[in-house]
Amino acid sequence: MPHIKVKRFDTAILEQKIPESDILTFRATAQNRGDELWGVMLEGKEFLLQAKYFDDHVLIKYDKVTRPLKVNLLKEALAKVASELDLEIVMSNIAQHKESRYASRYEKRIEDFEQMEFPLEKVCVEVGFGSGRHLLYQANKHPDTLYIGLEIHTPSAQQVLKQIELQALENIWVVNYDARLFLEMLPSNLLERIYVHFPVPWDKKPHRRVISGQFLEESMRVLRKGGILELRTDSDNYFSYALETFFAVSKTEVQVRKNADLEVTSKYEARWKRMEKDIYDVYVSALETSDEREEVGEFNFNIVKYRKGIEEKLPQKALVEEDYFVHIERLYKAGEDTLLVKCSFGSFDRPEHKYVLLTEEGGRYFASPPVKTRVNHKAHKKLMELLSDVECN
Ligand SMILES: C[S@@+](CC[C@H](N)C(=O)[O-])C[C@H]1O[C@@H](n2cnc3c(N)ncnc32)[C@H](O)[C@@H]1O
Repeated sequence: MPHIKVKRFDTAILEQKIPESDILTFRATAQNRGDELWGVMLEGKEFLLQAKYFDDHVLIKYDKVTRPLKVNLLKEALAKVASELDLEIVMSNIAQHKESRYASRYEKRIEDFEQMEFPLEKVCVEVGFGSGRHLLYQANKHPDTLYIGLEIHTPSAQQVLKQIELQALENIWVVNYDARLFLEMLPSNLLERIYVHFPVPWDKKPHRRVISGQFLEESMRVLRKGGILELRTDSDNYFSYALETFFAVSKTEVQVRKNADLEVTSKYEARWKRMEKDIYDVYVSALETSDEREEVGEFNFNIVKYRKGIEEKLPQKALVEEDYFVHIERLYKAGEDTLLVKCSFGSFDRPEHKYVLLTEEGGRYFASPPVKTRVNHKAHKKLMELLSDVECN
C-alpha cells in the first residue's frame, strides 16, 4: 500500500500550512501516542493520512478506515502533501499504476441499496455464489430476471464480474458483502427466489452460518408471496440444523428433496457427486405478503457537540449488548476544541469502523456514515448517548 518516508521535519510547518492548504484540512494527534492523522480533501473525497514519527524520519501512509477506493488517489494525496509541506522524501512507492481492482457497472455497494431502483420486475438473490456457475447460468436463461449475487470472497466476486462482461449479460449485479446483513436493505415482497447453494457448514463456529432464525425471517419478508428460499447442501449436520431452524417458525411450508439433479452443477456439487455424497434440497415458501419494511432512523449527531473534558468521560472498554456493540478505540485531538473519535460498532459479524469528528458546532461521521441497517442504528444511538451524555430513544 502506498506510503512515503520523509526526513524528520519541524511540525510547526503543519500549523503554518494547513490554514491555506489545498489538500490538508486538519491535524489530529493521538492521545498518549506518537502518531497523528491528517485530514485530506482531494477530488471531492475526504480521507485521512497517518503520520508516524521516528527519530530521523516520518512515515506517512494511508488510514485503513477511510481509505479511498482508488489507490491512485491516495498516491496523489501523498505526493501533494509532500510537495506542499516541502518534505524531503527518502523512500516512496507512489508511482501511479493502472488500477488493479476491476471496476464494473455491475458491481453494487451495499450503500447503493439505501435507495435502489430495480430495473426488472423479477428479482432473485444468490448467496455465496463462489465460481458463479449457477448465477451466470440462471441469468443467461432468464433475461427478464435480475440476479443479485452476494459473495464475501472478493477474488470470486471479481472473477464473476469479468464473466458478466465477457458473456454480455445485463441482468446480474454483484455485491461483495455479507449476505446475512444484505437482505435487510431490500424492500418487502421483492424477490422470486433466494438461492443458498452449499453454504459453508461452519460446524465449529455455528454463529457464522448464513442460515439462522433471523435470516429466515428476513428472507420471508423480502420474498413475494409464493417466493422460495432454496437451500442445497451436502452436509448432514447443516441439513438437520436448517430444518430445525425452518420449523421453529410458526407458519412455514417446507419441502425436502434428496439427491435431485439441477440443470446446472456447481464446482462443489461436482466434487461431492464424484464422492457419491448425499445432497439435500430444502425449499421454504413465503406464505404471506409481508408488511413494508420499517424505516431505519437518521444517522446524524445533531445533539452532539465537543465539550471540554469529554475525553476523560468516554468509556475505554467496549459496550456489548445482545445484538450489537460499541467500542471507542482511540481519541485524537485537533486543536483545543475538536476531537476525532475512532470507533467500531454494530453487528459482531460485520462491524463498522468509523471516525466521528466532534467540534463545538456539532458532530459528523468522517468521512461517510455507516450502512443504514437496524443494528447499526441501535449502535449509533448508543454512540450518541456516550458522546452527548444524553439518553437517546
Ligand atoms: C462452499 S462455497 C459454495 C459456492 C457455490 N454456491 C457453489 O455451489 O459452488 C460457499 C461460498 O459462500 C461464500 N460465503 C460464505 N459466507 C458468506 C456470507 N455470509 N455472505 C456471502 N457469501 C458467503 C464463500 O465465500 C464461498 O464462496
